[in-house]
Amino acid sequence: MIFTVAIDGPAAAGKGTLSRAVAERFGFAHLDTGLLYRAVGAKVAGGAEPEAAALALQPADLAGDHLRTLEAGQAASKVAALPGVRAALVQFQRNFARREGGAVLDGRDIGTVICPEAEVKLFVTATPEVRAHRRWLEVGGDEARVLAEVRERDARDMGRADAPLAAAADAVVLDTSTLDIETVVGQALGIITARLRETR
Ligand code: CDP
Repeated sequence: MIFTVAIDGPAAAGKGTLSRAVAERFGFAHLDTGLLYRAVGAKVAGGAEPEAAALALQPADLAGDHLRTLEAGQAASKVAALPGVRAALVQFQRNFARREGGAVLDGRDIGTVICPEAEVKLFVTATPEVRAHRRWLEVGGDEARVLAEVRERDARDMGRADAPLAAAADAVVLDTSTLDIETVVGQALGIITARLRETR
């Protein structure tokens, strides 16, 4: 069975929690595509050339807590604006999306660019304040700085020319500003279950 769930949305909207729940419930493989850009950003911070770093990316590069920091998120969104970096990562993501057995990918452009044919497209969002508060609970530090970082990354991700962050026309928008993540997970599982029945 080929079945792709595309989950897009801005920073700290809850994509990761939702994707893991979907993968676990349906036995799908999960790819956090943000990690690809974070890993390239980390290599560039270490002196590598962006496109070469993207082409040479290995699974082992995707592990490590250093990729989870605010700085790694900023470095990721900078390299993610480079068309050569995005192009280098497209085929791997497409193959992952259409692998046998079902796949869930979370990112910014999964439903629009990587897999426009995805069987389910979800766009998860929340206000910048709510997202910054969630990210602050994870990383600590100064909450105002976390909010500024979220806004800066949103602006860069939405404003870039190549594959900007946007909901696909046929995506279901899930706003998590006032809903807890369990409720959102429940809604998403319901949408996917209904779609799986249609395709069988
Ligand atoms: O976890 P969080 O939502 O904060 O970030 P992430 O999903 O790890 O993504 C980090 C950065 O990578 C984003 O700000 C985007 O600039 C970029 N990215 C992208 O351009 N396309 C994707 N499919 C995934 C991430």
